Amino acid sequence: MSSSTAASLSEFSNTNLEPLITGEQIQARISEMGASIARDYAGRNPLLIGVLKGAFVFLSDLVRATDLRVGLEFMAISSYGASTRSSGEVRIVKDLDVAVEGRDIIVVEDIVDTGLTLNYLLSNLESRGATSVALAALLNKQERRVKEVKIDYLGFTIPDAFVVGYGLDFAERYRNLPYIAVLKDPAQG
Ligand code: IMP
Repeated sequence: MSSSTAASLSEFSNTNLEPLITGEQIQARISEMGASIARDYAGRNPLLIGVLKGAFVFLSDLVRATDLRVGLEFMAISSYGASTRSSGEVRIVKDLDVAVEGRDIIVVEDIVDTGLTLNYLLSNLESRGATSVALAALLNKQERRVKEVKIDYLGFTIPDAFVVGYGLDFAERYRNLPYIAVLKDPAQG
């Protein structure tokens, strides 16, 4: 097989992808975020809640960069669909297996876009009696914000473009990309 044929078969160097943040840049930033969390929560036992599915790669790196006793849980949420999306209503598809009353919570999310999902989720967790609720997000699309969300630990602010990789998908594709890329033409998948 020629090298050009091999390249055209590569998922990771697909021509529909424009690299935005390298794997090395992501690792370096996550190391800093983990160090900040370990410092801020020293002597405490926060519960990290990963929002499925997109946060799974970020979360797995973040916990290994955080030298602290932590608990780990997952939630899955979905919006009610385009018609009611502006209302900010989201549906909890998979809830927590533990009570959060009296716990320090850190929600771990891949990207904050309009902010509707996180705005709902953070207030939902606060209403359950958590001692504190913080947010760690890998990416922030500030230009798209509809509802304000306070991001306590942020990886990168990015332009208003559809990005994939490092857990983020387009129709379930590209979650396994070891870097973050702009999807140039969504029609091509
Ligand atoms: P929000 O409620 O608009 O902030 O939506 C956040 C969710 O939308 C994220 O958790 C992602 O699942 C999805 N999302 C938003 N922007 C992107 C993107 O550029 N690529 C992939 N998923 C995205």
